[in-house]
Amino acid sequence: MPQLAVALDVPEKQRALALASQLRGTVPWCKVGMELFTHVGPGLLEELSAMDFSVFLDLKFYDIPNTVAQAVKAAAAVGVNMLTLHCQGGERMCRAAAEAAANAAAGVSGARPLLFGVTVLTSFAPGEMPGITAQPSDFALDLARQAGPWGLDGVVCSGHEAAAIKASCPGLRCLCPGIRPAGSAAGDQRRVMTPALAVAAGADYLVVGRPITAAADPLATAKLIVAEMASSLIQKQN
Ligand code: C5P
Repeated sequence: MPQLAVALDVPEKQRALALASQLRGTVPWCKVGMELFTHVGPGLLEELSAMDFSVFLDLKFYDIPNTVAQAVKAAAAVGVNMLTLHCQGGERMCRAAAEAAANAAAGVSGARPLLFGVTVLTSFAPGEMPGITAQPSDFALDLARQAGPWGLDGVVCSGHEAAAIKASCPGLRCLCPGIRPAGSAAGDQRRVMTPALAVAAGADYLVVGRPITAAADPLATAKLIVAEMASSLIQKQN
């Protein structure tokens, strides 16, 4: 069953924890990105773990291999279950991250975070990526083909790329942001898809931020998304 992650893109710990409390039991993953992490620091990650959430640290690491490896080690030490890095960091950076994650599992923390490589941000429309003339779908697929051999568990891509990536990279997981229930505002996102279509395309994880966090009733909205995901999966299987 594909899983839902809520992006806790808010500036205060109390607001993040209030949302998490509401969504507990309905949404299995909390995603902490650069806004919240920069405001509140790593203590929140442990608090979310203690609330039985799977914790997804979305800082999109992109640096020299040693720096990224040390950051992965630090994330594993606070119990992060999944994190992101840029596929464009290249083979040596990704392999260093994978090695750090494996070492974390062998060490005291005992937990190996899943590593997801960002392909093309879902906010990019075709033609917007500086210096890259390829279509986002082609560029994302090229990067995804390397992600598995480089030691990553999956890639971050839009729903529009998921089917092609799943078909050509067996075993690689797809995590899709840019998810918009029908009728909700795209905002700054450009390559968007509904929860049902993303699940039909093969997404393993859906990331939803503002459609849940800015809703009048975040829990009701999350429940509708989970139900839409489940019925899409049933249709896919039949
Ligand atoms: O509010 P919205 O649903 O657009 O939030 C999407 C979340 O997913 C944000 O936290 C954003 O940082 C993250 N994300 C993304 N596109 C990527 C990778 C991560 O939108 N390629």
